[in-house]
Amino acid sequence: MTRGRTPSTVPMLLTLEPQGAPRHQQIYAALRAAILNGTLRQGDRLPSTRILARDLGVSRTTVLGAYSRLLTEGYGTGKAGAGTRVAALPLSGRRRDAPSASASADDAMPLLSSAARALVTEGKWRNPPRRATPFAMGMPAFELFPLTTWTRLAARRWRLSGRELLLPEDPQGYAPLREAVARYAVTARGVRCTADQVLIVNGAQHALDLCARFLVEPGDAVWMESPGYQPARGVFAAAGARLIDVPVDAEGLDVARGRELAPEARLAFVTPSFQWPLGVTMSLARRLALLDWARDAGAWVVEDDYNGEYRYDTAPIPAMQGLDEHGRVLYVGTFSKTLAPAIRVGYLILPAALVAPFTRARFLLDMHSPVAEQAVLADFIESGHFGRHIRRTRSHYQQRQQAFLALAARELAGLVTVDAAPAGMHVIGLLPPGVSDVAVAEEARRRGVIVEPLSKHLGTAPGSAGLLFGYAAYTPAQMRGAMRALAAAIRAVTSCLP
Ligand SMILES: Cc1ncc(COP(=O)(O)O)c(C=O)c1O
Repeated sequence: MTRGRTPSTVPMLLTLEPQGAPRHQQIYAALRAAILNGTLRQGDRLPSTRILARDLGVSRTTVLGAYSRLLTEGYGTGKAGAGTRVAALPLSGRRRDAPSASASADDAMPLLSSAARALVTEGKWRNPPRRATPFAMGMPAFELFPLTTWTRLAARRWRLSGRELLLPEDPQGYAPLREAVARYAVTARGVRCTADQVLIVNGAQHALDLCARFLVEPGDAVWMESPGYQPARGVFAAAGARLIDVPVDAEGLDVARGRELAPEARLAFVTPSFQWPLGVTMSLARRLALLDWARDAGAWVVEDDYNGEYRYDTAPIPAMQGLDEHGRVLYVGTFSKTLAPAIRVGYLILPAALVAPFTRARFLLDMHSPVAEQAVLADFIESGHFGRHIRRTRSHYQQRQQAFLALAARELAGLVTVDAAPAGMHVIGLLPPGVSDVAVAEEARRRGVIVEPLSKHLGTAPGSAGLLFGYAAYTPAQMRGAMRALAAAIRAVTSCLP
């Protein structure tokens, strides 16, 4: 046997977490990791249990427990407490040159399948910040979330249902939630459906992924709005779709252009209530034209109604699904905007023919959404709290947008031209000609302000430079501070222009 070193570093490998696992487990885990990653090598002698116990301030029995486990599992030889050494192990492929967890995602791309590479490449999207940071998009007003009510309902639901909530659930979703969602979608969004058509999923993005996986063959053309929602591009690209950039104008997706570009497309992805990111509402004529095309082509239309509830100038405009006479529309709803993004509950309302196959296929992917969350949400909707919350947030967001516009007129005068939006939770600001929105967004981020560059969402089509501002989650004081930093960022970028 090799006479190894007597590493004086062993105690340094070990920092015991007072709140962590039992101490003998922590010692065992740290030594095991050191052996596996090559820090401790074959023949190296572990310190005596007495010395290690003294250095770590634990009892000798604690260290002996860890050593005996290492011996039992074959990591060491000798006797616990009497000259334990690292055993001979075939570890050549696991030494320090093993890929580190910190390797960048870009470097590791070749490790991924072509589907995952397409997802990452097309679905360009940054992780949202952990705190609502002006002007990050998609953030509702967290302070309005009715936490006390939610906590009370959750406690009550666990009391009433108890261990029922631990049992496997119907993969289509918890029945009372499907009932509540169907009632809400019919009355509030003009969807035509019954609870039997509702599939509960983990947010809109999950719904889009299921549509892509279950409906698109590699090579199929899929119409995407341009500019459009990048995460949707990602999931359709991952399914092997040929993405067709169909322009959006003042009436929404240009259906005639789509028919010219790819009349045979398998699917169209649209955001008719508040087009993402331009904020256009799709006209009735375009909705009907899109449904006619879908019927003629035997294509599917995925309607992402991610924030149709938030309309300020009129009553909310009913969903396109309600106009569909031929069962071509898959309607996607989410609680990410109306409640919070971390709720991770959304729903797909499916044409009758797709319910059974989608439910079966979804079961085989991830079984079903978490049951307790579904149950509490069902109670929240059924007891009227959801309707109240939407009315409250709607009037709040309208005021916040007005505050944003008034502040922008002062703080960003001459730098950003912002138009009011009749709906949604963000507005668009246009930059002066020649100023790069990507450069401004980067400079703003360095100064602690988050703005999305519009050009990033343009598919392959060219477009003007602008910034997307989420406003719903921010107080006027936060907005003012962030606008001042943004103004400085724009001046810094423009001062570098030739
Ligand atoms: C167009 C669009 N669809 C859907 C969503 C919501 O997705 P999810 O429910 O997965 O959070 C967003 C959120 O930003 C969005 O902008």
